[in-house]
Parts: sequence; structure tokens; C-alpha cells
Amino acid sequence: MNATTAFLRGRVGSREPRVGIVLGSGLGGLADAVEESLVVRYADIPGFPDSSVAGHRGELVFGRIGETEVVLQAGRFHLYEGHDPQTVVLPVRTFAELGVETLIVTNAAGGICPTFSPPVLMLIADHINLMWRNPLLGRVGAGESRFPDMSEPYCPSLRTLARRRALEVGVSLEEGVYAGVLGPNYETPAEIRMLSRLGADAVGMSTVPEVIAARARGMRVLGISTITNLASGISPSKLDHTEVLAAGAAVTNSLEAVVRGVLGAP
Ligand code: HPA
Repeated sequence: MNATTAFLRGRVGSREPRVGIVLGSGLGGLADAVEESLVVRYADIPGFPDSSVAGHRGELVFGRIGETEVVLQAGRFHLYEGHDPQTVVLPVRTFAELGVETLIVTNAAGGICPTFSPPVLMLIADHINLMWRNPLLGRVGAGESRFPDMSEPYCPSLRTLARRRALEVGVSLEEGVYAGVLGPNYETPAEIRMLSRLGADAVGMSTVPEVIAARARGMRVLGISTITNLASGISPSKLDHTEVLAAGAAVTNSLEAVVRGVLGAP
């Protein structure tokens, strides 16, 4: 057991999170839905860097949503902050060490599919790694395979469940392919035309490394993007991070309803 896992085991006692949830930009509201929560700040966790981006907290939140023991990552490490891919996936690998079997990843993304009407949620059906980085480079991580299969990166049965729950709670849920880019600048209109031709429905600067690491550990993954804006060249206005955060906040209740539904919580 490494120092990070040993420290967290000591802090969380008998709690055994089964589901890990990664919160994207402006989606921290879900952390407030956790009952009997125990908050551990990154600054206190050995091996964890501090989280710096506006709109991100910097803590792991352990507790329950409904009957399910969960751990939330409130504050993500992004490649564009200069973190190496191993740091970006440190929380996910730590979740795996703590016994988490299912990972729910959320993010903010720009909409490329012309029929998307932001702010709206998009179930991630698949992704394209255009970050030119991979967290699995180098030594094979504990419990991981050298050449993990990626034919079903996002669990088909969890996606079916999410669609059903979204329908039940009256939340619109698009579905599509997420292109992960390095950032941190937003894309040019020409880049968005290229991504569209490559088959992307949405674009963002996160998620792909975490999903690769999770699949390498055999975790089931559900991914939900908040389409906060139409992508560059499709949107009539310039892109602005504050607006991305505001749009994320506008659908945080819908996101929470879908996640609660998937977890079987009322
Ligand atoms: N591009 C990349 N990342 C994003 C966007 C976008 O348009 N919106 C929110 N995150």
C-alpha cells in the first residue's frame, strides 16, 4: 500500500467507497448531496498537489449518496496546468486502491454537434484522445494491464441505466463522442471543423486520462459532459471561462438528478 492510500485508509476508517465521482468545472454542487460526509483536503494528502483552477475545490469527499458509499473528487488535476499524466490520474488510481469499482466522470465541454442546445447534458458514448499524452506510459501500474482493451471505454449497461433514469426524472440527455484536447486555449474554428470531421460531438480538456487509467484497472466508467457552450466558430460569441462555469451551474441539478438515479438514490 502506498503512502497516499495508507493515509486515506487511516482517515476514512471503515468507509468503503464503491463508486468514485470526478467532478468537472462548475459541477461541485454534487458534493453538497453527500450525506455523512468526511472531507479530506488535498493539501493534507501525501502525494497530492494542491488544486488551483477557479471553479475547482481541492478535496476528496467521502460519504453516502442514497445507500451507496461514494468518494467524490472535487477539484481535478489537468494536463494544461502542467501536471504530468500520472498526477492527473492519481485520484482515480487511489480510488481503485480504496476498492472503488465504478467511476462516474463529469466535465464541462463545448458542443460540436449542431443539434446540441447548451446548457445540456451529454452521455459520453466514446472518446478520442487528442491530448498526445497517456497516463499508462512507462512502468505498468499496480493492478493494471499493459495493453488494456478500449473497445467499451464507457460501460454500455451504465449508459442504458443513465438514459432510463434521465427519462424518469425529465432531464434531456444527449449522447456522443468526446474529444479530449490538451488546451488551455479554446479551439479555433478550423480545429472545431477538423474535430467534427473526426467524429467528435463535444470537446474538452479533461476526462480522457482518468478514463484510460480507470479502464486499465478494470473499473466500469460512466461519463457525463455538461455541454456549456457551442464550440468555437459554431457559437456566435467568444468563449469565456466564467460563462462556462455559469452554464455548468445551471444544469448541476439535472446532473445531480441523473447521478442520484444511477446510484439508485431517491
Ligand atoms: N472547448 C474546450 N473545453 C471546453 C469548452 C470548449 O468549447 N467548453 C467547456 N470546456
